[in-house]
Amino acid sequence: MCGICAYIGEKEAFPILKEGLKRIEYRGYDSAGIAVLEKEIKVNKDVGKIEEALKEELEGKIGIAHTRWATHGGVSKENAHPQFDCFNNIAIVHNGVIENVEELREKLRNHKIRSETDTELIAHLIEEELKTKLPMEAIRSALLELKGSYAFALLIKGEDKIYFAKKDSPLIVGIGKGEMFLGSDVAAFLKHTNDVIYLEDYDFGYISKDREAIFNALSGKKASRRAVKVSFSPEDVEKGEYEYFMLKEIEEQGYRITDMLNSNTKDLERAIEEFDRIHIIGAGTSYHAARMLKYLLEREKGIESDVMISSEYKFFKRPDKNTLVIAFSQSGETADTLKAVKFAKERNAKIGVITNIRGSSLDRISDYSVYLNAGLEVGVAATKTFLAQLVITYKLSKRIDGEEIKRIINYSLREENKQVVKKFSKEIANKEHVFYLGRGLNFPLAMEGSLKLKEITYIHSEAYPAGELKHGPISLIDEDSLAIFLVPKDETYEKTLSNIQEVRARGAKTILLSDVALDNSINIAKPKDPLYYPFAELIPLQLLAYYTARERGLDTDKPRNLAKSVTVE
Ligand code: M6R
Repeated sequence: MCGICAYIGEKEAFPILKEGLKRIEYRGYDSAGIAVLEKEIKVNKDVGKIEEALKEELEGKIGIAHTRWATHGGVSKENAHPQFDCFNNIAIVHNGVIENVEELREKLRNHKIRSETDTELIAHLIEEELKTKLPMEAIRSALLELKGSYAFALLIKGEDKIYFAKKDSPLIVGIGKGEMFLGSDVAAFLKHTNDVIYLEDYDFGYISKDREAIFNALSGKKASRRAVKVSFSPEDVEKGEYEYFMLKEIEEQGYRITDMLNSNTKDLERAIEEFDRIHIIGAGTSYHAARMLKYLLEREKGIESDVMISSEYKFFKRPDKNTLVIAFSQSGETADTLKAVKFAKERNAKIGVITNIRGSSLDRISDYSVYLNAGLEVGVAATKTFLAQLVITYKLSKRIDGEEIKRIINYSLREENKQVVKKFSKEIANKEHVFYLGRGLNFPLAMEGSLKLKEITYIHSEAYPAGELKHGPISLIDEDSLAIFLVPKDETYEKTLSNIQEVRARGAKTILLSDVALDNSINIAKPKDPLYYPFAELIPLQLLAYYTARERGLDTDKPRNLAKSVTVE
């Protein structure tokens, strides 16, 4: 989704902002822009990649920058941010979606509106308010008129400050020495500082080069916010020797697993035992982790729960004070999950959040937080954070043997095993449709393997419990089909072998992931406890997607139409 970076200090802003934008490029975007304030506000923006859009340097020590992922209005230079008021005295970059656009357009009909964006209307609204008020008052009045979500950074000609506001979209203040930053995520300024303030909804205010001022837009009163230190390092946002973050992050699992295993799950574990009702939610990969937790809690502890995709939650569930809602979200900012959690919280449910980002919106409203300890994940495809989620699901459901899990992970990462997976990716690269099949605990892994493949290779793929094939999907199977089966030597083995025969009998190709040497199979680690097979399957599935994408010549870090953190519903 869109990204914001802003800088005020003693250095030239343009190179810092451009570099900041590159750090948050992974969020996905279609255009980029920077505005710098000196005597005038100067702007440089265009569609396309940062390098192409921002060729011309601008001088000045105060600036705001943006990567846009089109929502209101198409992909065009006019719609790229920064957006301006009528006289170029106000420049704004904005993430989120303003909902009362028609009403505002009517109110502002005498203004010179040049783009199709909702963002531009905020600049004109503030312009209107500035006719009678000082900047902070004018911004507050404008905020009280906005409906929808926003995180914005704003320049006003003649003011040595960067103004900001936040509601339902993340915005973080970075505190440096004699310089201050704003970012839609910490990666935007991580190179310069680890000291941050996570802004809350309705916060607004400004940064100058040596201080921040934060107020609440509803009460108008000063808001007290604590600065925290984030544990991520600048190396997390560097590719190092790797061509792609995705491969870097897959390989990192070998050493990150130790921190993941050390994650503290005690409070949430206790809560799970105490509540009458448990609802588990997540989106995308996080939903697969949610399913895994449901399976394991029931199998290992006899605790029943409901699992649901976050965006569907409020249509079906009626949580109350006796409900524990457990939300998985690596980013802690996914709008669908946040909305579901807020809905549950309003109904007095307690909230457990499993996230990689301390201080994220979900973490802040959680009663029991668990941290993934995976290091910042940059690749759009979740890899190491899914391993960490898997670790947490096991920790919450049973005693786990950390050493055995480390052994399994490192087995999958051995060079010779990676090369085998790479060879198989050539069989997938020219396919149009792929099926991922597995039973029992292997099914969420099949779903995850399938999602990884589709998001970065653009090959159509679907996952089914292997037993479900004969109830419909098998009609799609012919000589051109490819089915990838998870067939570990666990309780599902015999039945899955029969399903493989059904598929092969119809002329389809199969690739098997197994610890048994089967025909056309990728060898996976053999765990001591069959319950650990998902750990053995995970990395081969991730690598299969990665190598297939590379075989098709695709950029695995920036898949089309996707964003790392999905902050709109
Ligand atoms: O940050 P979250 O875990 O809440 O994100 C949820 C999904 O958007 C995310 O898992 C998405 O499906 C990834 N691209 C999967 O690789």
